[in-house]
Amino acid sequence: MRIYNAVCSSKARLDGKITVITGANTGIGKETARDFYSRGARVILACRNVEKAKVAVKDIKHNPFSSKRKQAEGKLGDLAVYPLDLCSFKSIRECARMLLKQEPAIHILVNNAGIMFAPYQLTDDGFEIQLQSNYLGHFLLTLLLLPKMQSSAPGCRIVNVSSLAHIFGRIHFNDINLEKSWWYLRSYIAYYQSKLANILFTKKLAQLMKETNSGINVYSLHPGVVRTELSRNYDNIFPGGKLFFRYVMRPFIKNSEQGAQTTIYCAVDEKAANETGLYYTECCVTRPSEAARNDQIAEDLWNYTCWLLRLEPNKDFSKFLKTVSRQLNK
Ligand SMILES: NC(=O)c1ccc[n+]([C@@H]2O[C@H](COP(=O)([O-])OP(=O)(O)OC[C@H]3O[C@@H](n4cnc5c(N)ncnc54)[C@H](OP(=O)(O)O)[C@@H]3O)[C@@H](O)[C@H]2O)c1
Repeated sequence: MRIYNAVCSSKARLDGKITVITGANTGIGKETARDFYSRGARVILACRNVEKAKVAVKDIKHNPFSSKRKQAEGKLGDLAVYPLDLCSFKSIRECARMLLKQEPAIHILVNNAGIMFAPYQLTDDGFEIQLQSNYLGHFLLTLLLLPKMQSSAPGCRIVNVSSLAHIFGRIHFNDINLEKSWWYLRSYIAYYQSKLANILFTKKLAQLMKETNSGINVYSLHPGVVRTELSRNYDNIFPGGKLFFRYVMRPFIKNSEQGAQTTIYCAVDEKAANETGLYYTECCVTRPSEAARNDQIAEDLWNYTCWLLRLEPNKDFSKFLKTVSRQLNK
């Protein structure tokens, strides 16, 4: 519930910085793109619906400033659209290939795209759709882009948009696709699991980035309860759920611009520059659930995800990344 709407007050500029935001054609991702653009960054909207992304680009160019940043304090950046469907490993590899080839650097990656309470479905790659869109897809994309980010460091940041809903989650190592879960609850359990996985991924990746002195910080966050298209499946909770959320709950819910503030804070704020592996709400470090703080679960999930994605483990992280990059040629 909206109790307090923290605002990222940083005036940091992103001139010369190249940023990638997944799912930036609407909602929180689009408002994050608008903010980065107003700070002078090159902003890449990595989206499955390219037409919708082009409309978003037009809107951002037409209205480059959020109400929080009314005045330009420097030049605007530029905007580009790359196709990315996180439900398809092929599309992720293709997007990564294009980014690695066409962009000279990547300084900020925001893993924002997500779906919530989607009806149970397996992707063509054989994974439950929320697990792949919200977690597995971002895991693969991030690892494929890491070499480019390492060469763009120091000062690079990876931001994983999670949710407070992670507190209801656990990682179902013996049934990751939830085939054995009760059908009625599956789509909820899947969302909670994927959002817990976002935080555990942040924790483990941050540890690896620290150990390798990579100059890349990693953050996870809950954006608040935000009025976006994420509610498209709320009618599955109860008939009229979407309308109830949009209209009855309206006074208690953030708009997309407010909902983007913690993402923007993690991506640009000077105060977060020396922090990594942490979870934020309302532009502040917050303690996530016990499971999300558990090093062993983070380690197990990392290894299990590598196994699921057929990534060859290697104790030497740079050698591991080389084996990951071989995925690009698949
Ligand atoms: N809104 C909230 O209250 C809330 C609360 C906690 C956490 N979050 C998290 O915030 C993030 C952003 O959500 P939002 O509220 O801004 O929702 P949204 O308005 O529905 O935006 C989600 C974005 O993700 C994209 N997307 C979904 N599946 C994708 C796929 N397979 N490949 C590529 N892009 C895909 C969507 O693309 P299309 O337009 O093509 O569908 C859209 O651009 C999500 O990770 C969500 O879990 C939101």
